[in-house]
Amino acid sequence: MAGNGRQGAPEPAPRRGATRLSRVVAPALGLLLCACAAHPQSTLAPRGPVAQMELGLMGYSLLIMAGVFLAVVIPLGIVLVRCRDRGVGRPLPKQVEGHHGLEILWTAIPVLLLVFLAVPTVHDSFLLAAPAPASALQITVIGHQWWWEFDYPGLGIVTADEMHMPTGQRVELTLKSADVIHSFWVPRLGGKEETIPGQPNHMWLQANTAGTYPGQCAEFCGLSHSLMRFFVVAQSPAAFRAWAHGLQHPVVTPQSALAKQGLAVFNQFGCGRCHTIDGTPAQGKVGPNLTGLGNRAVVVAGALQNNARDLRQWIHDPGAIIPGTVMPPFSTLSAAQMKALTTYLEGLK
Ligand code: CUA
Repeated sequence: MAGNGRQGAPEPAPRRGATRLSRVVAPALGLLLCACAAHPQSTLAPRGPVAQMELGLMGYSLLIMAGVFLAVVIPLGIVLVRCRDRGVGRPLPKQVEGHHGLEILWTAIPVLLLVFLAVPTVHDSFLLAAPAPASALQITVIGHQWWWEFDYPGLGIVTADEMHMPTGQRVELTLKSADVIHSFWVPRLGGKEETIPGQPNHMWLQANTAGTYPGQCAEFCGLSHSLMRFFVVAQSPAAFRAWAHGLQHPVVTPQSALAKQGLAVFNQFGCGRCHTIDGTPAQGKVGPNLTGLGNRAVVVAGALQNNARDLRQWIHDPGAIIPGTVMPPFSTLSAAQMKALTTYLEGLK
């Protein structure tokens, strides 16, 4: 706003008030308008019963707190105005210190309010802690520095970065960690749950609407904590079955001469010591399982898009994308080797 050519001009008196007002109004308006943007990670736009229940509790608590706020601030305002010092000679108002009736009243009111808060909170906590039915889809979520592994023990498939689930049904999650404490959080589907080494946690989620819901590690877990993202893909049960079937019957044979060369590069550089590709000798467990990699929308915990250019960037210097990652740089690969390798990886469907 500075440098609008009006500097130095005499400022009329009424404008001073307007400037002061604009200093308050402009930031407030800015904050308000921020709320108009899309918020894919908003707890205020739930898409499943867990997030819905939690939002209900938040709204209910906020209502009670707003009531308490008004019950304190309104009488305070009245007292400040009506009982202000109007000069000498006026007697002090009647003092109520030690009044038994009032002491009991303002002890009882907070106790009652806490009971009103506790009953629905405990009720919903039990509902959320109840395990999903035994027939529910089981997913083991494993936090790693800095990516997410999703195992489907009943289906015999393992994936990373994207957790697929069918809509309209409860999914039972077992949360584990491979290293330090992480926190699994998909704001539009439910609250946070920590993944703790040696201490599996449980939670259930349900998505009522198909869609892709971004998630985020919500516990500081080291250098690249803020980059530890993932996506939950909620899809119709039929689409979910098709996705799982694809991973159970993956395309692992290179489909072109270039992809065949890529497999040779993969073997030459020992990629299979850290990564698994189901149905091949590559059975490493350090990094993400690469089965069906070509079908994922994102790679590297959502830091990169799934295309040859981004994959090349990652393989060349992973530490530039995820500082502190255990994946070593493969900067010695020639351009031809890199092209072959990314073609092979993108062909894993
Ligand atoms: Cu994992 Cu923060």
